[in-house]
Amino acid sequence: MIEDKYLHLVNQWRDHFPILHTSVYDKPLIFLDNASTTQKPQIVIDTLSQFYQNYNANIHRGVYYLSQKSTDLFEQTREIVRSFINAKKQSEIIFTKGATEAINLIASSFGDAFIQKDDEIIISQMEHHANILPWQILCEKKGCILKIIPIDKNGELLIDSLCELISNKTKIISIVYVSNVIGTVNPISEIISLARQHNIPVVLDACQAIQHIPIDVQAIDCDFMVFSGHKIYGPSGTGVLYGKEEFLNQMPPYQGGGDMIHKVTFEKSTYAGLPHKFEAGTPNIEGIIGLGTAISFFSSLSFESIHIYENFLYLYALELLQSIPEITIIGNAKQRMSAISFIVDSIHPHDMASLLDRDGIAVRAGHHCAQPLMKFFNVPATTRASFAFYNTREEIDIFIHSVKKAIKLFA
Ligand code: ALA
Repeated sequence: MIEDKYLHLVNQWRDHFPILHTSVYDKPLIFLDNASTTQKPQIVIDTLSQFYQNYNANIHRGVYYLSQKSTDLFEQTREIVRSFINAKKQSEIIFTKGATEAINLIASSFGDAFIQKDDEIIISQMEHHANILPWQILCEKKGCILKIIPIDKNGELLIDSLCELISNKTKIISIVYVSNVIGTVNPISEIISLARQHNIPVVLDACQAIQHIPIDVQAIDCDFMVFSGHKIYGPSGTGVLYGKEEFLNQMPPYQGGGDMIHKVTFEKSTYAGLPHKFEAGTPNIEGIIGLGTAISFFSSLSFESIHIYENFLYLYALELLQSIPEITIIGNAKQRMSAISFIVDSIHPHDMASLLDRDGIAVRAGHHCAQPLMKFFNVPATTRASFAFYNTREEIDIFIHSVKKAIKLFA
């Protein structure tokens, strides 16, 4: 059982999130779709409006006060992110509009620099479409080959197969840290140390990990890491690509445009250095500044307390769901967190989600942008509940009650 101190802490945490005190259909909102996006603390909401009220100007372009202020605030986020993930340098932090754009950037640009026909790229069976499609597009363009690390029926990677998949043609491994569907936490250290032995760079999709697990990119020694700002309590349309300078320096720009150049002539143009080489055009300035606020806010809380509390919440929900005979949980990994997917034979996941919605409970139903994983488990869709540190034990109780009510209705 969890100590009372955490049950008190959660009420303090919740006070920062105004939406958690609202109702839908006259029922208190219970937001259990946190793997999809997270809610925003007041301080992030205020940052966005304060930007437009006080500082709105384009960055890196003006000598006037407002532009310098907005540039400073934007660049401060780079330092906040650097320090949060312990990157060596600010220049290794590239802002994107999300993890999807970040992986597309790597696939396209790393692909141009380092991947040839017949080379091989390794991903896994449990990837989000955002970590499948960019590599498939590259394979179609270059004639290279996508290889897949299989999983077992518990939803755990078959690491021994990774050893067999690696060859002298393997140019990159791109792997999810925590599954957005079944919550499996992958053995990242093992994968990276295996890749190191073969000199293969590793991309880490940390979208479902960054808000749950402290990540030190130097300690884990990944070569690239991506995450979306909106999943760590920041604004939508913001994302981070971390890359080791040694790779980023050798990679060509992903997009051309303003702010990424050194000199432009019709004959030949040269590019700015890192990180600007990869940040063409006016970015989501207020969003990135808001991301800085979100990460600072999150860092001001105790990650250890969040981790302990979220783990309690997850196991509590899992145990209660497992105790309902009509429910089948998809995946059963030993290390798991954040997301639980389930099915009930007699109810389509969309019907389940709609019934929960009428009780004020937001969950996601569908294939969760992971159709190959769905195919492996032989299900077209699941209902997924995913948790954040602001969810409560009482919310889980109401969720379970509502699930049971739905099952009875369809019995
Ligand atoms: N990747 C997000 C999810 O799993 C959208 O819901």
